[in-house]
Amino acid sequence: MKINIAVDGYSSCGKSTIAKQLAQYAGYTYIDSGAMYRAVGLFCKRNNLFTSESIDENRLREILPSVRLSFQNGHICLNGEDVEQYIRTLEAGDWASKVSTLGFVRAYLVAEQQAMGKAKGVVMDGRDIGTVVFPQAELKLFLTAKPEVRAERRYKELLEKGIKADLQEVLKELNERDWRDTHRKESPLVQAKDALLVDNSDMTPQQQLDYVIRLFNQTANRD
Ligand code: DC
Repeated sequence: MKINIAVDGYSSCGKSTIAKQLAQYAGYTYIDSGAMYRAVGLFCKRNNLFTSESIDENRLREILPSVRLSFQNGHICLNGEDVEQYIRTLEAGDWASKVSTLGFVRAYLVAEQQAMGKAKGVVMDGRDIGTVVFPQAELKLFLTAKPEVRAERRYKELLEKGIKADLQEVLKELNERDWRDTHRKESPLVQAKDALLVDNSDMTPQQQLDYVIRLFNQTANRD
């Protein structure tokens, strides 16, 4: 029988890497919920909804129903357009973090995410998957790593993509994002009571993969 797997945690903890690997191992569908918040952030940017420090909430509430999100070959599509290349920048992470504080945006995306997981066999990563989207998920992982380790990883990732970055700036941005994600009123990032904590600061990617595959096999009775 298929199960749903929730992978939550701080940004740049390697959630998407492990979630994708697990989905591939299990033959499940991987869904990047952060990409959905990023796409809504991009939509706001394109529609000039960001003012200096806030968002034009009334206007967003009006036009949000016109936002259609889908995944094609692992890429997020905004009203049919593959916007993957526009949503992976630091700036897009910031837009996403801002729109993710709005309750009506969360409600809209959570409903979509729950529909995607209805038939089970989904590995979804994000911040509220084990607490709000799939509170009944059979396996819940909560990933963490020291901020310095995460900043270093994110910095290298950006350089590899050819995006210019400054390590101190990346760390600052990451700390700010953590603060916003954990202190927002709507669905703050919190470890679900029944989630298993995975601190991967000192784990190799292979050690982490072996560990979560063991957890998966135990949970899905595949042993
Ligand atoms: O995982 P990410 O960096 O792509 O997420 C981008 C932003 O979206 C991040 O600030 C947190 C937010 N987010 C959220 O609030 N809930 C989710 N399920 C996924 C992401």
